[in-house]
Amino acid sequence: MSKITVVGAGKYGSTTAQRLAEMDIVQEVVLTDIVEGLPEGIALDMNQSGAIEGFDTLVVGQSDGYEKTAGSDVVVITAGLPRKPGMSRMDLLEVNAKIVGDVSRKVLDGSPDAVFIVVSNPLDEMTALCRQVTGLAHPRVLGQAGMLDTARFTTFIAWECGVPAREVQALTLGSHGDTMVPVPSACKVGGKPLPDVLSSDAIDALVQRTRDGGAEIVGLLKTGSAYYAPSSAAAAMVQAVITDSGVQMPVCAWVTGEYGISDVYLGVPALLGAGGVREIVELDLTGEELGNLKGAADAVRAKQSDVASLL
Ligand code: NAI
Ligand code: 2OP
Repeated sequence: MSKITVVGAGKYGSTTAQRLAEMDIVQEVVLTDIVEGLPEGIALDMNQSGAIEGFDTLVVGQSDGYEKTAGSDVVVITAGLPRKPGMSRMDLLEVNAKIVGDVSRKVLDGSPDAVFIVVSNPLDEMTALCRQVTGLAHPRVLGQAGMLDTARFTTFIAWECGVPAREVQALTLGSHGDTMVPVPSACKVGGKPLPDVLSSDAIDALVQRTRDGGAEIVGLLKTGSAYYAPSSAAAAMVQAVITDSGVQMPVCAWVTGEYGISDVYLGVPALLGAGGVREIVELDLTGEELGNLKGAADAVRAKQSDVASLL
């Protein structure tokens, strides 16, 4: 039987569970939270939607422990606080480190062979923390950010060019924060290189809007952060692992020499399969993009190395 656990039944966790149930790729999706009744209630509601949506996946909720998560193939960690207007993702570091450290340990007990996909913020640091706490091999622990940031960049390019998003190929690498690295050299619109289609000023504006994409939505929502595109991103990663597809996605992965960068969790293109990260893909970047990627690695490495001291 294949099983996915989603830890945290808030906005991100519940929408991820819904997308995964509707994909109908596993027998069970287990949703957990510390709020009594919340995951159980969401699971009941979601199962009843199956009669209309036509999926067979059983959604199970648990708020009093982790027994029902045992034997999971993939664990998605969404537990933790989202930011409020004016907060940076780093403002969540201390409080979310305690939550992510605690749930990672607890869920690992029953699912020692799972692939862990972290989404809680600050993303790069929480992914590193999950790896340190679980002691799993690095490829089995990865984080979601690049799929979301790339989806935002894709959307903004598509709107600027007046074409459907499916005609746009875009990419962001680096951190899920101030040192995010949108990669215009890897972007195409209808098969044409982005610089042939838009001016450099227009590209710069789209790059900046992408970097600020999360804050733009937090500013509008006021009480939480984005979850529709984020849950699409996480669910696509889970699908790649569950189906052992080998598909290439930008993810937060442990880098060991690729791009001349080592020993850090960083947003890079990777092939995903049953064991998590199969391989990191090295693309030809411009000198400026490569410099920015190295800058992002330097910016997140120091915090990642001592993140376990926050537990
Ligand atoms: P939310 O507040 O709606 O849900 C968080 C849930 O975590 C709550 O239901 C809460 O009860 C639960 N929780 C807290 N402590 C827990 C524990 N010890 N065990 C189990 N559950 C626990 O927040 P939302 O919108 O779901 O966001 C979740 C996280 O995802 C935040 O840290 C947010 O910043 C991050 N995020 C990351 C993105 C990314 O691209 N990596 C994108 C969007 C959000
Ligand atoms: C986002 O980018 C807040 O990380 C979250 O929407």
